[in-house]
Amino acid sequence: MEGHIQIITAIDHMQQQARRLLQTGKTIAFVPTMGYMHEGHLGLVREGREHGDTLIISIFVNPTQFGPAEDFQAYPRDLDRDVRLAASEGVDIIFAPEAEAMYDTAYQTYVDLELLPRYLCSASRPGHFRGVATVVTKLFNIVKPHVAIFGEKDYQQLVIIRRMVRDLHFDIRIIGVPIVREPDGLAMSSRNAYLSEEERESALSLFQAVQQAEKNVAQGVRDASQLIHEASELIRSYPYTKIEYVALCDPETLKNVDRVDGPTLIALAVWVGKTRLIDNTILEPIEN
Ligand code: PAJ
Repeated sequence: MEGHIQIITAIDHMQQQARRLLQTGKTIAFVPTMGYMHEGHLGLVREGREHGDTLIISIFVNPTQFGPAEDFQAYPRDLDRDVRLAASEGVDIIFAPEAEAMYDTAYQTYVDLELLPRYLCSASRPGHFRGVATVVTKLFNIVKPHVAIFGEKDYQQLVIIRRMVRDLHFDIRIIGVPIVREPDGLAMSSRNAYLSEEERESALSLFQAVQQAEKNVAQGVRDASQLIHEASELIRSYPYTKIEYVALCDPETLKNVDRVDGPTLIALAVWVGKTRLIDNTILEPIEN
C-alpha cells in the first residue's frame, strides 16, 4: 500500500487537489493531527484507510487552541519523522500549513459551542475548544472529506466535533477510535515525551484510577462521589501528581452525574510534574 506521499503546505493547493479528487469520484478520509505521531495517531490513520479512496492527514500545531501560558512553543514537532510514519501507513497526502496562512493578521472568525465546552477541560483551558472547533471547521473546508477520524482519548473534543458537525450540517461522517495505550496502560500522547523516568511511573496512576473505577462499578458501587474519591486517593498516592479533575458524567451531555445508573463517562485530567495528562473510559454498570 506504500505509495508516493504528497506533502502540501499551501491552502489553495490543498483545496484544488481535494476538488480534483472529488471530481474524479474519489472518497476522502481525513485524520487531523498536531503531529509528533505515535501509535494512537497511527490507529486513526489505519481506521481512515478503511473509509476512503484517498487518505489525507493534517499536521498543524494550532495556535488558537493553546492558552497564553500553555505549551504551544514547546509542543514537540518532527515533520520528517511524521512523513516517514505516514508514508509507511499508506497516507496519500499530508497537509501541513503554516500558521500565518491559516490565521492572517486580520483573522476574526471563530466557531464556538454553547454548552459542551463548559465542562471538564474548560475550567483550566478557557477558549481551548473554540480553537479546536475553529481549526477543525477550517480544515474540513480545505480538505473536503467524506469521513473524518478522531480519537476517544480526547473524549470531550470528539463529542464537541460530533455536535458541531450536526449543528452546522457538515456532510461529513465522524468516526471515533478507542484509546491506544502503551503496554502498561498509559494512554499514548505526544505530551508523554515531556515525562521524566520517575514521572512516567506516576503517569500510570491515571489508567490505574480508571481501572479501579471499572472494578468498583463491576462490584456494585454506584455512588459517583465514592468512585471519584477512591480514584483521587489512588492518584494522590503517586508522587508528582496534581489532580485537575476527576469527573463522572453523562457521555453525551457531559453533565455530572451523582450515580452510575447507565453508561457513564469517567474522565480525568492530572498534572504529572509540568505535564498535563488526560484519560477516560465509559463505565458500564451491569445489573444482575
Ligand atoms: P492531536 O493531539 O495530535 O491528536 C490527533 C488525533 O489523535 C485526535 O483525534 C486524538 O484524539 C487522537 N489521539 C491522540 N492520542 C490518542 C490515543 N492514545 N488513542 C487514540 N487516539 C488518540 O487532537 C488534536 O491533535 C487537535 O486538537 C486537532 C483535532 C488536530 C485540532 O487541532
